[in-house]
Amino acid sequence: MRRSSSPSPRASRERAALVRRGPLVIEDDYDGEFRYDRKLVGAVQALAPERVVYIGTASKTLAPALRLAWLVLPRELVDPVLAAMTAAGWRPPVLDQLVLADMIDSGAYDRHARRSRAAYRGRRDQLLGALPEGLRPAGISAGLHLVLPLPEGVSEQQVVAAARRRSLTVDGLGRQWIRAGEDRPQGLVLGYGTPARHAFAPTVDILTRTLRDVGLR
Ligand SMILES: Cc1ncc(COP(=O)(O)O)c(C=O)c1O
Repeated sequence: MRRSSSPSPRASRERAALVRRGPLVIEDDYDGEFRYDRKLVGAVQALAPERVVYIGTASKTLAPALRLAWLVLPRELVDPVLAAMTAAGWRPPVLDQLVLADMIDSGAYDRHARRSRAAYRGRRDQLLGALPEGLRPAGISAGLHLVLPLPEGVSEQQVVAAARRRSLTVDGLGRQWIRAGEDRPQGLVLGYGTPARHAFAPTVDILTRTLRDVGLR
């Protein structure tokens, strides 16, 4: 078994070849700054700039309310995308863009991303440490949420309702399916980015009590 989680040179070459000859790829890199257990993964866009549309956002690093994001486009798409944005009346806020540009130039954005990465890694570890043994959370190595599959006999509606009784909002996996169905695996999507710093430990505590309410300990 390979210990490193970075792809082998051969896998990288194959991936590059696939991207270069395949259809247009949309790379939605919305939380690439938050990888905890491995090196940051380079963007696929660099492998084939004329085949990949790269999308980045400040929604996770700064705040979703800013509505600041960016596209790196194949040259032939720049004019059509600008025309579509103009036709849609989309006007990205200029002052906010200037502030973001200044943060990037001065290194403040990078420092903030690094500080946030350490803080979110701490939150993730705290949450993982509080979950009942035997549950196998997924998607823990990156991002600001994880997926907690529920064991047989416990439905996500049950947990969502138990959480609500404790004034906690958690999301079931159900909302994520394109085609919902009774037979879908049951699970929760647990975000750990939202609670204020002082509220994080109490929130994790309420979650563990909620899981105990439905027999998970
Ligand atoms: C899959 C995915 N892409 C992109 C985004 C970022 O969206 P926006 O920049 O509109 O906030 C999110 C936000 O949660 C997301 O879940």
